[in-house]
Amino acid sequence: MATLKLLSVLFLQLVVVLFVSDLANGYGLQLGFYKKTCPNAEDIVRKTTAQYISRAPTLAAPLLRLHFHDCFVRGCEGSVLLNSTKNNQAEKVAFPNLSLRGFQVIDGVKSAVEKVCPGVVSCADILALVARDAVLMLKGPFWEVPTGRRDGRVSSAKEALTNLPPPFANITQLKTMFLGKGLSVKDLVVLSGGHTIGNSHCSSFSNRLYNFTGKGDTDPKLDSNYIVKLKSKCKPGDLTTIVEMDPGSFKTFDEDYYTLVAKRRGLFESDAALLDDSETKAYVKLQTATYGSTFLKDFSESMVNMGKIQVLTGMAGEIRKHCALVN
Ligand code: HEM
Ligand SMILES: *[C@@H]1O[C@H](CO)[C@@H](O)[C@H](O)[C@H]1NC(C)=O
Ligand SMILES: *[C@@H]1O[C@H](CO)[C@@H](O)[C@H](O)[C@H]1NC(C)=O
Ligand SMILES: *[C@@H]1O[C@H](CO)[C@@H](O)[C@H](O)[C@H]1NC(C)=O
Ligand SMILES: *[C@@H]1O[C@H](CO)[C@@H](O)[C@H](O)[C@H]1NC(C)=O
Repeated sequence: MATLKLLSVLFLQLVVVLFVSDLANGYGLQLGFYKKTCPNAEDIVRKTTAQYISRAPTLAAPLLRLHFHDCFVRGCEGSVLLNSTKNNQAEKVAFPNLSLRGFQVIDGVKSAVEKVCPGVVSCADILALVARDAVLMLKGPFWEVPTGRRDGRVSSAKEALTNLPPPFANITQLKTMFLGKGLSVKDLVVLSGGHTIGNSHCSSFSNRLYNFTGKGDTDPKLDSNYIVKLKSKCKPGDLTTIVEMDPGSFKTFDEDYYTLVAKRRGLFESDAALLDDSETKAYVKLQTATYGSTFLKDFSESMVNMGKIQVLTGMAGEIRKHCALVN
């Protein structure tokens, strides 16, 4: 009887361990997953990405952002790449005015890889590798990307709206949203540093310049000299103009973002919010004071963490033939 009890306790523990590790982010990923099945996969990705970005360096930023958007909605499983169908509004259509870009690069990389190893490399892995290569091309850090992700079959505009932090998110909301994806407060402040590259539409922050609380006022958390500058670029109601998020160096991956945030020149309320928490504020101050002594290394680590969110591995999901379509 006692033995039976012991056995059943052990069995339960085993079940719990298997269950928990299956839920853990990143389960089933490994470095060099395609070493045997497609040994040149990462080379092909890097060379094809380089061809696009050397011609159009402003494509690097949206390619980084695509991986972020992919991972935060249903995990890193390529759902951001799917087209809408007759009966389904895909993630792509969720933010018509803040449009994602770079899909043609992913398609170009995918077809280059398919030529050599058809049906082997997932679109989700291609997104993770392209984001890494894009950052490196802007003089950012290099990191090893664990691979073995598989592609999902579902993409939902509604889920994009509820899972992606909006630019007006406050620090509590940001921390909760990152924690909900298994990412830490440190990951939040480090990954926000992705805003050292790229552009934003005026519409993502113009509420801070005009009528912030409905009294014709401006956001007190935004430097008033900077408001004057931004107003000259973004007229009220302008939905199409874009501005550099890190003016002058938006094509270089460096720690400037933290200097801007510290000077109250972060473009979004979500950037400014990093000064409202003692841990994130300390990180902003440290990178500012030390010329980004740990930022590039931290960013590499946090990107690996982000790339593990709710991945599909093993027999789950599929390897899409075309990144915009389920098989
Ligand atoms: C912390 C929460 C975040 C918020 C609220 C946020 C919000 C935004 C918004 C509103 C834009 C501008 C879109 C537009 O108007 O065109 C943007 C751009 C961008 N974001 Fe974020 N973001 C966040 C986190 C991240 C993360 C984690 C990354 C990557 C590690 C990232 C990378 C980028 C990049 C590279 C761009 C520029 C895209 C381009 O040039 O087209 N963001 N983000
Ligand atoms: C997906 O949609 C885009 C934009 O509507 C279109 O250009 C592209 O051809 C579509 N891809 C496929 C494989 O149908
Ligand atoms: C997006 O742009 C369209 C027209 O360009 C406009 O009618 C709509 O209000 C905009 N939506 C948002 C959320 O700004
Ligand atoms: C953050 O925003 C939420 C939702 O709008 C609100 O309930 C909360 O009070 C805000 N928290 C802070 C610290 O501003
Ligand atoms: C500012 O917002 C208030 C409240 O939403 C609105 O009544 C007013 O018309 C707005 N003013 C301008 C100049 O848009």
